[in-house]
Amino acid sequence: MSKIQNIGVFTSGGDAPGMNAAVRAVVRACRYYNIKAFGIYRGYDGLISGEIEELGSRSVSNIIHRGGTILKSARSAEFRTVEGRKKAYDNLVKHGIDALVAIGGDGTFAGASVLSSEYNISVIGLPGTIDNDLNGTDFTIGYDTAVNTATTAIDKIRDTASSHNRLFFIEVMGRHSGQIAVRASIAAGAEATMIPEEPMTVEQLISTLERGASSKKSSSLVVVAEGGSPGHTMQLAHEVEAKFDYYDTKVTILGHLLRGGAPTVADRVLASTLGVQAVEYLLKGKSGGMLGIVNNQVKFTPFEQAIRNVENLDPEMMRIAGILSV
Ligand code: F6P
Repeated sequence: MSKIQNIGVFTSGGDAPGMNAAVRAVVRACRYYNIKAFGIYRGYDGLISGEIEELGSRSVSNIIHRGGTILKSARSAEFRTVEGRKKAYDNLVKHGIDALVAIGGDGTFAGASVLSSEYNISVIGLPGTIDNDLNGTDFTIGYDTAVNTATTAIDKIRDTASSHNRLFFIEVMGRHSGQIAVRASIAAGAEATMIPEEPMTVEQLISTLERGASSKKSSSLVVVAEGGSPGHTMQLAHEVEAKFDYYDTKVTILGHLLRGGAPTVADRVLASTLGVQAVEYLLKGKSGGMLGIVNNQVKFTPFEQAIRNVENLDPEMMRIAGILSV
């Protein structure tokens, strides 16, 4: 049996629906194994400033269905410094925390990796990001909810687009990833999808739109991944409109809307499963990696691998979207 007695849990980076379910699962699993659970607020920033408190089973009641994160989240610049990490470690020692569950994305895991290599602290990561941009898991916590939210919004835009014979550009989040864009595009029956993984020129896009116009489509929807330049879709729409004026053209940027809302069943179950497994992996002495689910099996992936050269967009998805967009 491992000597772990106190586990700290935190959420970091962009929040994602399902993070609360993961926190709840970690706290309840700690209780099951007679370990104390500590909530660390505002990610690495709160670890540095000592915003830490013990969490009992009741402190995570009625949160499984809530979006956001009760532990708050932040992107910490100070944690990137040696001094910042020293303060963070001192606070862990002060509270007797001997292991951590870090819920977040690539930035969170880069930080966790450095902390666990500099200090003697066990860390297990859980993939919490709407972007689905990590190796070692089929889906990240929050992705399914974000795709559902995007699809619901795009369905509504379709109603108004087809009533007015309009072309809509709809921008969805995804920093370097077209994962949300492609899946929502297939689900909402969009005419075209623009993603960083498979760039398309304005001319290629226009020829796709012309095909639809010549077959008398009453509207066209183009789903565009934000790809690290939020709002760039305005410029794209202007360029297309200047060369293709068959439709009246409009732009909707969904942005942070995709980060909120009640998590779907898929996200709640994924988060709950991984939260329990995180505690069990720590008890088995595992550290330095992320847990995910691949083909229905829990999988451990070292942090460096989870965030390195991520290219997990299945090209088949774009092929399907292309076939169906005629
Ligand atoms: O990583 C999740 C994400 O929502 C990205 O899709 C987006 O590019 C980014 O975070 C936005 O971050 P912020 O909320 O800090 O602007």
